[in-house]
Amino acid sequence: MTQDDYTVSEMISAKSIAARIEALAREIETHFASTEKLVVVGLLRGSFVFIADLVRELKLPVEVDFLEASSYGNAMESSREVRVLKDLSGAIEGRDVLVVEDIVDTGHTLNHVLGMLRRRGPARLETIALLDKPSRREVDIRATWIGFDIPDEFVVGYGIDYAQRNRNLPFIGKVSHK
Ligand code: IMP
Ligand code: MG
Repeated sequence: MTQDDYTVSEMISAKSIAARIEALAREIETHFASTEKLVVVGLLRGSFVFIADLVRELKLPVEVDFLEASSYGNAMESSREVRVLKDLSGAIEGRDVLVVEDIVDTGHTLNHVLGMLRRRGPARLETIALLDKPSRREVDIRATWIGFDIPDEFVVGYGIDYAQRNRNLPFIGKVSHK
């Protein structure tokens, strides 16, 4: 696939993603088996495809909410400053919460968001990240559940963008500059 000055090559197929989500959903169901209602919080915008597939796989009573925190802008460099652009619509005090992230890279975004949500007093607060780049970590943080560990490559697809494009690819692809 060719676009502009870069190419995208498949790294994780749509089929592999679906199989992994099925397995993770079973673990999440076990962990939250006693929940009255699980608030599944998608971090916009990159997790929108992942959260859609994940919640349809979960046999638990769920509510869906979204939060948008900025970290990247339109560049390939991560910014250290994390700002909340859109907060949750509902309260999470005393509730079971699952934060859904697309990629944990340096860890600054997840660290900031979890700190903020923890101060609101949820009963349980866990996280799931579709992708993890452990070699890039600057903050000591790890999601409760991880789809795939990947090397230090810039990826797109399955909700994840490069300059707001490629979110609609059904697979995870690696970006290579020409
Ligand atoms: P962190 O704060 O450095 O962990 O950045 C996490 C966020 O950076 C993710 O939620 C993504 O939005 C973005 N990001 C990190 N790596 C990539 C990538 O390879 N492609 C696209 N976005 C990425
Ligand atoms: Mg993100």
